[in-house]
Amino acid sequence: MKSKVALVTGASRGIGKSMAIKLAEDGLKVVVNYNSNREKAESIVYDIQHSGGEAIAIQADVTSEDDVKKLVSRSQEAFGQTIDILVNNATGPQPELSLENVSWEDYLDQLHFTAKAPLLLLKEIMPSMKEKQWGRVINIGSEVIEIGNPEFSNYVTAKSAVVGMTRSWANELGTHNITVNAVHPGFTPVERHGEVTEENARGYLKGVPLNRLGKPDDIANMVCFLASEEAGFITGQNINVNGGNTFGV
Ligand SMILES: NC(=O)c1ccc[n+]([C@@H]2O[C@H](COP(=O)([O-])OP(=O)(O)OC[C@H]3O[C@@H](n4cnc5c(N)ncnc54)[C@H](OP(=O)(O)O)[C@@H]3O)[C@@H](O)[C@H]2O)c1
Repeated sequence: MKSKVALVTGASRGIGKSMAIKLAEDGLKVVVNYNSNREKAESIVYDIQHSGGEAIAIQADVTSEDDVKKLVSRSQEAFGQTIDILVNNATGPQPELSLENVSWEDYLDQLHFTAKAPLLLLKEIMPSMKEKQWGRVINIGSEVIEIGNPEFSNYVTAKSAVVGMTRSWANELGTHNITVNAVHPGFTPVERHGEVTEENARGYLKGVPLNRLGKPDDIANMVCFLASEEAGFITGQNINVNGGNTFGV
């Protein structure tokens, strides 16, 4: 895997940060994509480089066609080779909205991240994956698609699209040795959640057989596996990493 390049969208913080660090630890060259947090992205790159890895931070709004084109070409310039592994992880704000208050625009806001950005990126990266007859696409979903959380239909609907999209892409790209899978995290506290106390989490943990919350590294470990050579016979799958809170679609 040492010669391969991985792009992680939204890798300046949260779960994406762990993915970038762990993929780099596995010897991959990593593109740390960010939207606004340049300093954080640069500090992740600094840490990776100081541990002997290779990484570059590239700003791009992955919901913008122009930005996606620039992101992919800048990555190729930086590493002198095309992207082998695409991790569609970036997410924007996720407001909880009742059916009275939610609008079609709110649905679209989420679909821009779960369907539009992955599609723009795939279309830009797929030709070189086909040429190489090797590729990995890993879409990040969420367990909410099985729970159907109320007052969150904007996010739940958009994340549900990841399931069918992953299966359709897997069917279409399999003959090119490009695998496409989705990873569905459970509640995984990150910076944006602030402090999560046991009290906050108790209700949620009642349904979790492994009786703990997710850690970003739990999700990153699965992404690293799906990115690896060893996962080459796995495609079209929706894999939950949520301590058993749900059992799969
Ligand atoms: N954490 C959880 O409990 C949980 C549970 C289930 C599923 N997930 C899923 O896991 C993934 C990561 O979640 P997270 O909690 O780690 O998210 P997060 O902490 O909110 O981080 C979001 C990342 O996306 C980036 N981003 C935002 N808008 C962007 C844009 N337009 N273009 C490019 N990057 C953009 C942010 O970059 P800047 O900082 O530069 O703006 C940041 O790096 C998401 O797909 C989320 O839906 C998370």
